[in-house]
Amino acid sequence: MTTNTTTESTPGTPVLEAAGVTMRFGGLTAVRNVDFTVNAGEIVGLIGPNGAGKTTFFNCLTGLYIPTEGTVRYKGNVLPPKPHLVTKAGMARTFQNIRLFANMTVLENVLVGRHTRTKEGLWSALLRGPGFKKAEKASEERALELLEFIGLEHKRDHLARNLPYGEQRKLEIARALASEPGLLLLDEPTAGMNPQETRATEELVFAIRDKGIAVLVIEHDMRFIFNLCDRVAVLVQGEKLVEGTSEVVQADERVIAAYLGEPFEGDPGEAEAAEIAAAEAGAADSTTSTTKGEAQ
Ligand SMILES: Nc1ncnc2c1ncn2[C@@H]1O[C@H](COP(=O)(O)OP(=O)(O)O)[C@@H](O)[C@H]1O
Ligand SMILES: [Mg+2]
Repeated sequence: MTTNTTTESTPGTPVLEAAGVTMRFGGLTAVRNVDFTVNAGEIVGLIGPNGAGKTTFFNCLTGLYIPTEGTVRYKGNVLPPKPHLVTKAGMARTFQNIRLFANMTVLENVLVGRHTRTKEGLWSALLRGPGFKKAEKASEERALELLEFIGLEHKRDHLARNLPYGEQRKLEIARALASEPGLLLLDEPTAGMNPQETRATEELVFAIRDKGIAVLVIEHDMRFIFNLCDRVAVLVQGEKLVEGTSEVVQADERVIAAYLGEPFEGDPGEAEAAEIAAAEAGAADSTTSTTKGEAQ
């Protein structure tokens, strides 16, 4: 087998260290000066309202974007700013929008995920050259093992595009695991899943952690995150607002405000308070009372 032992590290030592990561798009600062660590053996959650910069931060970690400022280290080494080199170093990810080879089989999709761990590389894997054939057997055994792990071995010969949505998400995870990562990054793994599938994904993430792979997960589903994570960081408008255990984060009023406040501007209750104030002012003197609807 040509696998590397990227999954071994002492619990508690940093696997991922992001320091002062900032990402600007023209005038927009999507991520601002974020420090962030994932330790071996941990499941860490990254939450925040839509547009908070979560995916952008992920893209900075995984080499898709080169951060405007800051550094990202994996097991002490600064990561090269190229996605395939990041994967090779030991970090694998899934995407918010599923990216599978739709017209390849389930098994082939996992085999493609192994290309960073075989000498032969992606093209050989896709074109099935002679070098690939030799490495094929060992790779196939490992891929089948992973399919069994996620519970899709019975669909090994199905085309990826024919799988139900929840299974496509699982297959993406298997493909990411095929690169034998030390850290797995999941971008909204339960998006579009029903509650049963979400529960199953929870179990799957625990099982992945138990194999010695640290996990960083972005998710909207609060219950999922708080059940799952040893630690949770909250991004709001590109900045890390709070970080701590699920209990600490859940109890933090700023987090509640950031979420409940999402449809409004400012604090939750502010609109309501303003309405009451306006109504009171109106009752006192109707000429000074204006509401948004009447203004101008
Ligand atoms: N490639 C890009 N070019 C310009 N702006 C971007 C790009 N990617 C994301 N943004 C902007 O950065 C902000 C954060 O987006 P994103 O990281 O997708 O948030 P989240 O994943 O938390 O919903 C948004 O305002 C978004 O429009
Ligand atoms: Mg996103």
